[in-house]
Amino acid sequence: MEKDLQNIVLKGDFWKKICLYEELDSTNLEAKRYLAENEEADGVILICEQQTQGRGRRGRTWVSQAGDGIWMSLVLQPQIPLEKAPMMTILAGMAVRSAIQKCYGLKPQIKWPNDIIINGKKVCGILTEMRGQGVIVGIGINVGIEAFAGELEAIGTSIAMETGMHKPDRKLLVEAVLQEFEEVYQTFKVTLDLSQLKDAYNQNCINIGRQVRVIGVNEEYMAVAEGMDEEGELIVVTPEGTRNHVSSGEVTIRGVMGYAR
Ligand code: BTN
Repeated sequence: MEKDLQNIVLKGDFWKKICLYEELDSTNLEAKRYLAENEEADGVILICEQQTQGRGRRGRTWVSQAGDGIWMSLVLQPQIPLEKAPMMTILAGMAVRSAIQKCYGLKPQIKWPNDIIINGKKVCGILTEMRGQGVIVGIGINVGIEAFAGELEAIGTSIAMETGMHKPDRKLLVEAVLQEFEEVYQTFKVTLDLSQLKDAYNQNCINIGRQVRVIGVNEEYMAVAEGMDEEGELIVVTPEGTRNHVSSGEVTIRGVMGYAR
C-alpha cells in the first residue's frame, strides 16, 4: 500500500475508523460483509489499493487498478426512512465535486444524478447500496491513471490527466471528501431533503438547459432538463411543455451529444 493512503487522518469525531486493504473484490461488497458482522458501523470507511470486481451502476464493472485511484466505501447508519437514502448519493457527488475543486482548482461538473465530469469526461462514479438499515456509499475517483485504453478512452479522465500532475496525493483528496461529505450529511439528517444544496447542484449540473433522452421502462422521450428538485429528481420539460420529475431509480438519461455538449 502506498504512503499517501496510509497517512489519511480522520478529523473530528464523526468518522470512526478507516480500514485499509491492499486488495478487495469490491469495497462495497466488503462493506456489506462488515455490516453483517458489526452492529455498530456508522462512520466506518473502507479503502483499498485495488479492486478485482469493482462494481459500477446498472451492473457495470468499474476499472480499479492499484495506485490509480480512490476506491472507497463510506458505511453509514443514518436512522432515516430508507426511501430517503438514495439522496445520499447526491450528497456524495457534491462532496467529491467540491473536494476536487478545492484540492486542485479544477471545475468539475455533475451529470445527473452523480457522475463527476471534467472537460466532458468522467472522473468519478458513485454507487450507493443498502444492507438492512446500513447505507453504503461507494466512491470511485480516478486519480493517478495516466491514460485509458479501449472504449474508456473517449469517456474517462483522471486528476493526473486534467492537472498534468504525476501521481497526485490521494490523502488530501480523501480527507477533503470526508470533510465535505460530513458537512452536508449533518444538515441532510435534519432536513431529509436536498434543499441545502439544490441551487449549488443546479449551478454545476452539466445537463441543465440541454436536451436529454429520458429512458424509462415503458417509455422513452426527448426533453430539456430544467433542474434537480429537493428530492433529487430531475425536472424535465417535454416539447409539448409537460413538466415531469424523473427519479434516477426509474430512468436513465443520455445527453443527446455526449457529456460535453
Ligand atoms: C458508476 O458506475 O459510475 C459507479 C462507480 C462506483 C465505483 C466505486 S469504487 C468503490 C466502490 N466499490 C465498488 O465496487 N464500486 C464503488
